[in-house]
Amino acid sequence: MSKYVIAIDQGTTSSRAIVFDHAGTIVSTGQMEHEQIFPQAGWVEHNATEIWDNVREVIAVALAAGNLTRHDIAAVGITNQRETSVVWNKKTGVPVYNAIVWQDTRTQYIVEELAANGGVDRYKERVGLPLAPYFSGTKVKWILDHVDGAREAAEAGDLLFGNTDTWVTWNLTGGTDGGVHITDVTNASRTMFMDLETLAWDDEILADFGVPRSMLPEIKSSSEVYGEVHSSQLLREVPIAGILGDQQAATFGQAAFGAGEAKNTYGTGCFLIFNTGEEIVRSKNGLLTTLGYKLGDAAPVYALEGSIAVAGSLVQWLRDNIGMIATSAEIETLAATVSDNGGVYIVPAFSGLFAPYWRSDARGAIVGLTRYANKNHIARAALESTAFQTREVLDAVNADSGVPLTELKVDGGMVANDQLMQFQADLLGVPVIRPKVTETTALGAAYAAGLAVGFWNDLGELRANWSEDKRWEPSMDTAERERQMRLWQKAVTRTFDWVD
Ligand code: G3P
Repeated sequence: MSKYVIAIDQGTTSSRAIVFDHAGTIVSTGQMEHEQIFPQAGWVEHNATEIWDNVREVIAVALAAGNLTRHDIAAVGITNQRETSVVWNKKTGVPVYNAIVWQDTRTQYIVEELAANGGVDRYKERVGLPLAPYFSGTKVKWILDHVDGAREAAEAGDLLFGNTDTWVTWNLTGGTDGGVHITDVTNASRTMFMDLETLAWDDEILADFGVPRSMLPEIKSSSEVYGEVHSSQLLREVPIAGILGDQQAATFGQAAFGAGEAKNTYGTGCFLIFNTGEEIVRSKNGLLTTLGYKLGDAAPVYALEGSIAVAGSLVQWLRDNIGMIATSAEIETLAATVSDNGGVYIVPAFSGLFAPYWRSDARGAIVGLTRYANKNHIARAALESTAFQTREVLDAVNADSGVPLTELKVDGGMVANDQLMQFQADLLGVPVIRPKVTETTALGAAYAAGLAVGFWNDLGELRANWSEDKRWEPSMDTAERERQMRLWQKAVTRTFDWVD
């Protein structure tokens, strides 16, 4: 039996390939960033061809770094930035337009048109999501409405749609030479088109959006053999056996398999997922109902999700757009020089506000400025904004579930930041826990693939791989915590109703 599983993590800012051993330890890694394309305010695009080229490259880098060949690899798992939408011609393999990224807000007008009949919660009972530009549905419609000839080609059956899991899988399995056109239930649950109960595409919603069903991938479980890597690729004949959207993959990699378990991932955005087991829980507090995972023929596992659009990307914005720092790591150094935020609050509503507000009309604001405030306070406020948003999401989770979470497992790039994690524990009033392997997203995809080919036997084996690295205990007093939250919430209201 081969000794390793490889995960491909096609994320918002980069694509990575990570090889794991049986203990869930990283053996080798390859990583490449891709261009973030901002054609105008509110628009965010990726070049899907560049992404596919990078995926091939990072696989080569990871294999070379570990001195490995395809014979060492038992299976490929795929995880991805969710919602980001690619539409391509199945005869040529060429995308008809750049991928429209999950953060893109250009389709707000489509949301308004569709919401005119039944409001933004028009499809929520069926798909678990409010109408919002965030999800794939309005992005696909935009491409069909705006790219010359796209609608006719789609209706003739020549175009395919997919999130980047589907795009990478189709290409890895041969592309125009027999590529497999599939997705998994977790990704499908972010399109607006999948019925949560039947796990099938909903024809009525597709008709309302004007999206032909023939464009859509087949919906599969998160863990089964979908096909083999094509003979033209480095990993030829290795089975592709797991697909999970990145936030669900992180939940799986954190071994949060059972109802009542949760994780929060601090990446480009920040996403808290709360496992509700086989029960579909409809949120009354601004959370999404989504698929957690589905292993082969077993019953699907559902989750509630609190999505925060901007977390690490605020730090990138301070670096790239404002030039306040030269490297992302500098934010921590600046923030550590002050003992508090000096009264400054940043609400990074760059893509409107997601959970729990779902306000597409919001735009970012820095409030509480005085002559006293300096860039160190702004750095601190930038980090704190992620913790404030997480607290609001956790409040919503607790209200929906009725059973307050007693601790929070965390992962993602920002959890290396001690100061942020301490502030997070202080604001939540419960311990925050980081596992030894923080690459939980890739690990989750590797687990899903490894389970399908018998590399791992069961969830118990995976759970045994999880171990705690560090824990932050809350130390802020309640009055101060509540004062901070009051000010934050006041700042949030200042961002509303900003779009003309
Ligand atoms: O829903 C968007 C999410 O999947 C993106 O995650 O880690 O690329 O920011 P990330």
